[in-house]
Amino acid sequence: MIYLNGEWMPIEQARVPVLDRGFIFGDGVYEVIPSYSGHPFRLREHLLRLQSSLDGVRIVNPYSLERWNELVRAIVAKNAWEDQGVYLQVTRGVAPRDHAFPKGARPTVFMMSNPLVTPPPEQRERGVAAITVADNRWLRCDIKSVSLLANCLLRQSAVDAGADEAVLLRDGYLTEGSASNIFLVRNGVIVTPPKTNFILPGITYDVVIELARANAMPLEIRQVSEAEVRDADELWLTSSTKEVLPISTLDGKPVGHGKCAGRPGPVAARMHRLYQDYKRTVMRAPAKLKEPAVK
Ligand code: PDD
Repeated sequence: MIYLNGEWMPIEQARVPVLDRGFIFGDGVYEVIPSYSGHPFRLREHLLRLQSSLDGVRIVNPYSLERWNELVRAIVAKNAWEDQGVYLQVTRGVAPRDHAFPKGARPTVFMMSNPLVTPPPEQRERGVAAITVADNRWLRCDIKSVSLLANCLLRQSAVDAGADEAVLLRDGYLTEGSASNIFLVRNGVIVTPPKTNFILPGITYDVVIELARANAMPLEIRQVSEAEVRDADELWLTSSTKEVLPISTLDGKPVGHGKCAGRPGPVAARMHRLYQDYKRTVMRAPAKLKEPAVK
């Protein structure tokens, strides 16, 4: 079952007018929220990020935080899969084609859920291949916009090179992946770029940082040069669907040094375990969402 503008229906029945600005301009924002055994993960944080994306593109949030909370829980309950990836998007609505905002258009709200496919253990143990690519996206990568053409082109360049992800570099510094945040380990220190307009503030990124701090793992949040990326002991990507996934080759060369080169490293393995433990504790906790902090 999917949700479209207040109604539940099978996806085959869902229709959106061709003049929807999401279709015409990519004028909308989205979220991907994992749900484990019926518990949406970090739902409040995803909904707050949705609010800041909506603010970033000047769409008035059609629902309260409480209403979103109910809707996300409802779609999880209406679908049978144990673990699900909930996708939701809000566009500026339907209007005659004109770049300027239409007056009085109602945002289109669409929500679907799919089985959540996390990386299989073999892939986690092997690690994935990545290539570096120049980050040619716009300067508001902090907005989770449905205008993902640049991200699609970047990801396809990785696929064309036989790799899984594109690691993006802007002016000689690491930004993120085409659909993930990037962490590295150098001399035992976990390093990742700060949250700026050049990266999406990942929910998984926040969890990884919290877990590193809670477990006294050395961590630096700072600009990362291309040279550091190429000389890292470990490289990982993080996202809601990939969780913490090691990158074992970069531009065809093994990541890391010595006997670990080209193989996922120990810090990634530890962080993956911490992440899985954390997921389990969250799933046991009673579902709660504080009073709406946003309208
Ligand atoms: N993408 N950076 C980009 C550009 C992303 O598209 C994503 C996630 C992330 C990681 O964010 P999070 O940890 O909140 O999932 C970082 C989602 C999964 C997608 O577009 O499917």
